[in-house]
Amino acid sequence: MMDALEQRLAAAPVVPLIGENDPARAVKTTQALADGGLSVIEVVMRSPGAQAGMEAILDQTEGLIVGAGTVLTLDQAKSVVASGAQFIVSPGLVDEIARYCIDEGIPFFPGTMTAGEVQRAYALGLRKVKFFPASLAGGVPMLKAFSSVFGEMRFMPTGGVSAANLPDFLSVPSVIACGGSWLTPANAIDAGDYAQVTALAREAVDIARKARG
Ligand code: 3PG
Repeated sequence: MMDALEQRLAAAPVVPLIGENDPARAVKTTQALADGGLSVIEVVMRSPGAQAGMEAILDQTEGLIVGAGTVLTLDQAKSVVASGAQFIVSPGLVDEIARYCIDEGIPFFPGTMTAGEVQRAYALGLRKVKFFPASLAGGVPMLKAFSSVFGEMRFMPTGGVSAANLPDFLSVPSVIACGGSWLTPANAIDAGDYAQVTALAREAVDIARKARG
């Protein structure tokens, strides 16, 4: 049976990354993405204000699934979960974060780019991983090779995904969703052009519908 996150991703398999330091801008960006049809949001923990931004999003929006990305340590994982993160994404695979998330029932997408990493994630009990950095780690051919041996694994390619290659990544059946920052361009947000963010989200939703039928 699909969980809530899987159901959302089945409907729109695209996860935009929010890299804002300013919580008010993080909320506006999220609203613009939601207006365009994307409801699973990853807030990356790369700036001092990022976690406050995630909290503001959780506080001021409704009906979205909001997770924390670029989570590097177990303490950070615990902290973002205490702030309300509904899923966790990491650039790599740290076993103690995986075990914590499994125990807490929090979906966890660790970055993987080798068969050994995917196998370690599998052995830990995970069935969903990030594939990162997707374009440099072998792209679609690598995903197909992984899928032929890891039949139960689902992948979230992130890193170098754009509207141009989104159809190719989504054509791989084991791809649960694609993640990326192309939906939240800093120049548009700096200019207050949230309409552009909504347009990019809509475009991604349209591409996904066509790719997935
Ligand atoms: C990540 O955190 O997954 C990547 O930095 C996103 O890569 P992108 O900016 O190429 O989408």
